[in-house]
Amino acid sequence: MNPAYEKLVRCYESICKKVSFKPEVALVLGSGLGDYANDMKVETAIDYSEIDEFPVSTVPGHAGKFIFGYVGDVPVVCMKGRIHYYEGYPISDVVLPVRLMKRMGAEILFLTNASGGINKDFQAGDFMLLEDHISCFAPNPLIGENMDELGTRFPDMSHVYDEELKEIIVKTAKDLKIKLQRGIYLQLTGPSFESPAEIQMLRKMGADAVGMSTVVEAIAANHMGMKICGISCVCNMAAGMTENPLTHEEVQEAANKAAPFFKQLLTESIKRFCLER
Ligand code: HPA
Repeated sequence: MNPAYEKLVRCYESICKKVSFKPEVALVLGSGLGDYANDMKVETAIDYSEIDEFPVSTVPGHAGKFIFGYVGDVPVVCMKGRIHYYEGYPISDVVLPVRLMKRMGAEILFLTNASGGINKDFQAGDFMLLEDHISCFAPNPLIGENMDELGTRFPDMSHVYDEELKEIIVKTAKDLKIKLQRGIYLQLTGPSFESPAEIQMLRKMGADAVGMSTVVEAIAANHMGMKICGISCVCNMAAGMTENPLTHEEVQEAANKAAPFFKQLLTESIKRFCLER
């Protein structure tokens, strides 16, 4: 059996000893959204370090815990702090949390992140609904012996981001008068930001925004048949598009500024996902 699957089973057994909560929605919080739990009715929280063998995030601003609670009446598990590939973990560890949340019961995965804008019609501070993604620069998390217990060897990727969820998010943004761009998100490994030449290349490839997360999680979730949606906060225009050098602090500051609107959009969308089920 695939050792990553065996690890998943052990992590599941470990978390089940501490938490009995069946989430419907799994929410991955990107930069700036770390305090989203303040908007939830929290039932319980568990540090990643309390789960045997679970990878622990090392990035400042990405404290690591699962928060279980309710958004409206919807049972949600939130990842406060995700695991990034650039931290040096094997890719199977990067997607382990998503696999674990599915195993706990979540059928919907809501991915959020911070990104750099590549599309020239975007502005720093915009939100972008993920229409699709480009994954070719990050290692595929399904490499290795297939986890038949989770999904098929060669999963279809034609409709990773669920049409129905996207429609709800678009309508919600409109009702809340929150501007929402739509586009293609491309994941690189990081941790260095891109060079201006790389950004030109990525634009030619069809990317609208670039970041260092999300796509590998979407691939693992799609493998398991989850319904997936994603919103990116375009925190800065990508390298070479403005005079400014890029810094992690600038990204965090922009994400913090956008956070109140981002949270509103998340909360209302999640409530509506489950109204319409
Ligand atoms: N590039 C990659 N990742 C990012 C960026 C960027 O410009 N901004 C926020 N995350």
